Amino acid sequence: PTSAVSLTVNGRRHTVTVDNRTSLLDLLREHLGLTGSKKGCNAGACGACSVLVDGRRVNSCLTLTVRLDGAEVTTIEGLARGDELHPLQQAFIDQDAFQCGYCTPGQIMSGVACIQEGHTGSSEEIREWMSGNICRCGCYVKIVRAVEQASG
Ligand code: FES
Repeated sequence: PTSAVSLTVNGRRHTVTVDNRTSLLDLLREHLGLTGSKKGCNAGACGACSVLVDGRRVNSCLTLTVRLDGAEVTTIEGLARGDELHPLQQAFIDQDAFQCGYCTPGQIMSGVACIQEGHTGSSEEIREWMSGNICRCGCYVKIVRAVEQASG
């Protein structure tokens, strides 16, 4: 079965007809051409697919598109304002908070939610909030520093 869904992605309205099993991650990557959100595990374990839905962090691989009628989705592609990077994007560059970069879009989206929801009281609190985002290169110390820079 399929369903029609209207949702806003990075400020742009879309009405799509999708198979009811279509994840938000597949909608973004396969239907809307937004490949910034990454498919690591496709099972909720790595955080590479993290996006914001109505301001809340979700694993888009576990989120069904049919449940998002009327929702507002923000992905890594929607963070910058023209040529001006989001402060956390800039902080990742300043702190050298990545090596291969595969997990970075998810890390940044989780970090944005961490800052917006006020979980930046200490590096431990940031680490706890970010613990669902795996980095195989092991950049955790610098990732926490980047979140601290952008929240400071
Ligand atoms: Fe969604 Fe790993 S791809 S959590």
